[in-house]
Amino acid sequence: MSDKVLRYPDSRLRQKAERMTNITLDDKRRAFDMLKLMREDGGIGLAAPQVGWGVQLVVCNVSGKPEDDLILVNPVIAEPSKETWLEEEGCLSVPGIRAKVERPQTCKILAASLDGEILAFGVKGMLGRCLMHEIDHLGGVLFIDRLTPARKVAIRGKLKRLEAGPDR
Ligand code: CO
Repeated sequence: MSDKVLRYPDSRLRQKAERMTNITLDDKRRAFDMLKLMREDGGIGLAAPQVGWGVQLVVCNVSGKPEDDLILVNPVIAEPSKETWLEEEGCLSVPGIRAKVERPQTCKILAASLDGEILAFGVKGMLGRCLMHEIDHLGGVLFIDRLTPARKVAIRGKLKRLEAGPDR
């Protein structure tokens, strides 16, 4: 696991993550390390593939309050609403780029906790958007893949600069 967030176009961001079976103490420690890294980098969510850990685990906290830290194992989206909404998104793996993404207004999240407890809950608003964005990462999907053709054109130059690598 990387101690930094991987950046586009790192190929590890494009791999499908594996389902987690038995959760070890080491896995739990890694999950909490991800929350810490997410906070340090000013993000509201982080998926394990973003730190080079190819498992289906996401963390998020959209409020910034410690009690709202959320760690989900093997999360899946169910019953996405037909109604959608458009809001700007960014991603720690795609620095310097923000763009509007259309997503369902509501959905259900099915997942497990680190302790193997089954979780099922409805989400909407920023929490829903954040979890849908993070769950996309588990399938190797980035928010820039979900833009309309016109919005893709608008960010093309910035993406090319990321593809060229960091400034030296
Ligand atoms: Co992201």
